[in-house]
Amino acid sequence: MRPASLEDAGRIAQIYNEGIEDRIGTFETRLRTTDDVRAWFDGRHPILVVEDGGAIVAFASTSRYRARDAYAGIAEFSVYVARSARGRGAGTAAMRALIVAARTAGFWKLVSRIFIENTASRTLMKAMGFREVGIYEKHAKLDGQWRDVVIVERLIPENFR
Ligand SMILES: CC(C)(COP(=O)(O)OP(=O)(O)OC[C@H]1O[C@@H](n2cnc3c(N)ncnc32)[C@H](O)[C@@H]1OP(=O)(O)O)[C@@H](O)C(=O)NCCC(=O)NCCS
Repeated sequence: MRPASLEDAGRIAQIYNEGIEDRIGTFETRLRTTDDVRAWFDGRHPILVVEDGGAIVAFASTSRYRARDAYAGIAEFSVYVARSARGRGAGTAAMRALIVAARTAGFWKLVSRIFIENTASRTLMKAMGFREVGIYEKHAKLDGQWRDVVIVERLIPENFR
């Protein structure tokens, strides 16, 4: 694991686009460009990559939750593993490192939403200490179908002051 740099943006976009095409991890349908991913680097939100044999196989990222000042210590997160590398621990490694990076950056909570059918992601998040808060029913449509998502949160107790 290492912090991502702007030079990694192209490979991160490839991995994210595989996730978009698979339709199991996100409502997003617009494929991302390298420049789209470069815009994620805001100097505040950690982005990490996992390498295997010198090649990036996964990334985990944080992004702004809401613009409201009171929520400045909450971050949304994402984790995506290259299709060919799934189920071999890269997602676990990425999330473990992301939680440490979020703690170091001062965030007190990570949140996301997971499609209820996404067993791999729900299993991973439970193992990483996330709590399933509840289900948003019919949260949005993906390819014309209403989908339910489970809200997950993980507190970072070291950052409650
Ligand atoms: C979800 C994802 C990030 C998990 O990463 P991964 O590297 O494949 O998962 P790992 O090998 O680290 O396994 C993590 C846990 O999930 C379980 N798991 C992995 N793939 C699974 C699957 N297809 N079905 C059920 N459980 C699965 C593993 O057994 C492991 O649980 P354990 O610790 O109890 O053994 C990855 O599969 C992925 O990128 N999927 C597509 C995009 C996506 O859904 N992203 C998350 C958006 S919320």
